[in-house]
Amino acid sequence: MSLLSVISLSKTFDGVKAVQNVSFSVEPGVIYSVIGPNGAGKTTLFNLITGIYTPSQGDIRVDGASVIGKLPNELAALGVARTFQNLQICMNMDACENVMVGAHLRLDRNLFKAAFRFPALARRDRALKQEAEDLMRFVGLENYLTSRADSMPYGALKRLEIARALALKPRLLFLDEPAAGLNPRETLDVDGLVRKIADSGVTVVLVEHNMKMVMNLSDRILVMDYGKKLVEGTRDEVRHHPDVIAAYLGA
Ligand SMILES: Nc1ncnc2c1ncn2[C@@H]1O[C@H](COP(=O)(O)OP(=O)(O)OP(=O)(O)O)[C@@H](O)[C@H]1O
Ligand SMILES: [Mg+2]
Repeated sequence: MSLLSVISLSKTFDGVKAVQNVSFSVEPGVIYSVIGPNGAGKTTLFNLITGIYTPSQGDIRVDGASVIGKLPNELAALGVARTFQNLQICMNMDACENVMVGAHLRLDRNLFKAAFRFPALARRDRALKQEAEDLMRFVGLENYLTSRADSMPYGALKRLEIARALALKPRLLFLDEPAAGLNPRETLDVDGLVRKIADSGVTVVLVEHNMKMVMNLSDRILVMDYGKKLVEGTRDEVRHHPDVIAAYLGA
């Protein structure tokens, strides 16, 4: 059974058809990429699947069961985690605390409860801190274990966002442009990190404009344009497809 099935999914905002009748499925263990020009509907698709928006039409299934109407924390409990295109890091907290928020969400399943209980739990629960530090090392942030978030460079914050999502111990991880704004060296590192995450058993759905990274990592690729599915297939099926080339040249 597919880990994720998206069936005829649509989302309209005040007449703007951001996602139109999109269907695809993601098998366990793959790296699945979603690409397309700016405004194609990629982030909206992520927002629909992770419970931030409610679809106008269609269905989303995790392990075959519909998750329509579930909230982001309920989806997290099912093993669905994500990062945001625009960083969602708490700048007034330590790097490590940001990751621990992810772990608390996993345990408490309730954002507000987690936020209020945070100071007490942070003192009490050394295991969670250890876990957060291990995750920071996993994403290559071993030099920032005691840093405040607001003292970290942008490239490190992008990884911190990934570490926080991993603290939910997801089965299905959505990464929205993890390499955006990174230099070539940092991009290569994130490429390696995504591979490492996939190798650890997490199914990855990736939105990324860096085509080298997409072509290097992806088992399958969904190409969107103007909210619609343009092409879906393997790297080779997508790479040379005339409709894909036309969409990118037109963009
Ligand atoms: N909350 C919203 N309200 C109104 N319109 C929205 C909203 N979110 C997205 N849209 C519109 O939906 C369309 C798709 O936007 P989306 O952010 O999903 O594109 P994208 O593929 O992620 O683009 P990019 O590559 O630039 O991140 C755009 O026309 C956008 O303006
Ligand atoms: Mg986007």
